[in-house]
Amino acid sequence: MEPIALSAALASFTDQWSPRIVTTVNDYDVRVAKVEGEHLWHTHDHTDEFFLVLDGELHIALRESAGSGERTVVLPKGSVFTVPRGTEHKPYAPVPSEILVLEPTGTLTVGDQHGEIPAHVDATTGHTLN
Ligand code: NI
Repeated sequence: MEPIALSAALASFTDQWSPRIVTTVNDYDVRVAKVEGEHLWHTHDHTDEFFLVLDGELHIALRESAGSGERTVVLPKGSVFTVPRGTEHKPYAPVPSEILVLEPTGTLTVGDQHGEIPAHVDATTGHTLN
């Protein structure tokens, strides 16, 4: 194992909403992704999902419980947020942004429940770095 510069990892690809796995911690992947525009509403039934904004800004719309409506959390660069398991959410980046996500290895980017997957969203458990 060698140290990995996140800047170099992020410079090695251009795909949006298509995370790369930079390392693992026990049973978890540390993934980085470039994001812009809308992801899609989805739910991870069995795991929380941790976000760190490395650059830009990430908004995450949340539907936390039946009848409570929606709210959106705004994460400027340097912010962290954890989406609890079972919470429907939709990330959105108003500007080109870079995020780090921590979640169990094998977790699908589009969750266990989701609507139609738009063409610009990669449904993946993460790609290895080249
Ligand atoms: Ni998610």
